[in-house]
Amino acid sequence: MDKIVEKNKDGLKGEIVIPSDKSLSHRAIMISSLAKGTAKIDNFSAGADCHSTLNLFKKLGVDIEFKSEQSLILKSSGNLSTPDKELDCGNSGTTMRLVSGILAGQNFNSVLFGDESLSKRPMKRVIEPLSLMGAKIESNDYKAPLKIYGQKLKGIDYNSKLASAQVKSCVLLAGLHAEGITSFTEPYVSRNHTELMLEYLGANISVNNSTTKIEKSELIAKDISICGDISSAAFFIVAGLIVPNSDFVIKNVGLNPTRTGILDVVKMMGGQVEILDKRVISNEEVGDVRVKTSDLKACEISGSLIPRLIDEIPVIAVMATQADGTTIIKDAQDLRNKESDRITAVVTELRKFGADIDETPDGFIINGKKSLKGDCEIETYHDHRLAMSMYIAGLIADKPSKINDFQWVDISFPEFEKLMTVL
Ligand code: S3P
Repeated sequence: MDKIVEKNKDGLKGEIVIPSDKSLSHRAIMISSLAKGTAKIDNFSAGADCHSTLNLFKKLGVDIEFKSEQSLILKSSGNLSTPDKELDCGNSGTTMRLVSGILAGQNFNSVLFGDESLSKRPMKRVIEPLSLMGAKIESNDYKAPLKIYGQKLKGIDYNSKLASAQVKSCVLLAGLHAEGITSFTEPYVSRNHTELMLEYLGANISVNNSTTKIEKSELIAKDISICGDISSAAFFIVAGLIVPNSDFVIKNVGLNPTRTGILDVVKMMGGQVEILDKRVISNEEVGDVRVKTSDLKACEISGSLIPRLIDEIPVIAVMATQADGTTIIKDAQDLRNKESDRITAVVTELRKFGADIDETPDGFIINGKKSLKGDCEIETYHDHRLAMSMYIAGLIADKPSKINDFQWVDISFPEFEKLMTVL
């Protein structure tokens, strides 16, 4: 499905409620499935990726029933059963990497596979630490499909080169079934939803700066209410800052500090963003975000900020095209391993709009403030975030543009366009 996007001349106004957080939706299914008892999970993501996780756990014998469109009841004995088929992770790296940690320590064998894009993504980052724990995983050149032969695992003390929440979560979830202590250290703190949810359901887990330790634990089911996704809100935050005459509120945004790098960047750039009504829901910080059109100035984004905004970088690049001066984004080489090579893809497509942006091995150099011309045909590379980022660029471009294969948005955010029309 192709999409024509036109300049927004009136400004964005009003109020929206941002849909469910994907990282939390995946983890609510996975961790509740490992817990004994019944949990009500409210505000579960409508994105295809989270439904890949949900369907996979049904195949592992977990009883999951929707009570309404986005609210479900999950009943588990805390144990999984042998799947009778290979397990489909769809387009979701989070599903494949986290579930591999769960399946490595089971007393049965299983196979994980994914779509064309997921089958090209690196799995060595999880196979390596799991193998050190005693896991037996077969793959072709560390790519999916993964054949997992369930084994008894032992704890390890792992020093990760990557600040990756998927790798960290994989090792911690494996540690839940391993003998002894499993310890994971990362160079910078990545999103900590797995740690918070495991703690919430009673796991024996402790965190000290960038080191997390876990021991075998019995989890007890508890109701979980999932907040809105700051990674989805990011598209609206950037739109509000760069579309003239905008002023609106985004409600129910997850504000876990390991995810709020984009808000720090907006502040560094001089953008007007205000947090209202901060609260805690199911062990996670939440609030409402008011955003207004702003004059932006360039900044440098690197180091410990990167894991705190990794998924927002494509739309931050769009924002930087409207910031006065040169924005430099570095230390983000892992962007090349996402649903697409997001460094090359963002540069190629934003140049079509007329942006002044260059690629570096680990990021971008963006000279703002350049008016975008549009009148171009955009590719989406099977990548939902690229599609939405280019839509935001289209809102400020002089002439309409065409975005090819816009349906990839449904992977994470099927409500995206409808919410855009509300404002
Ligand atoms: C995620 C972690 C990040 C992020 C992805 C979701 C998670 O991946 O890009 O969209 O839910 O743990 P990495 O761990 O590969 O950085």
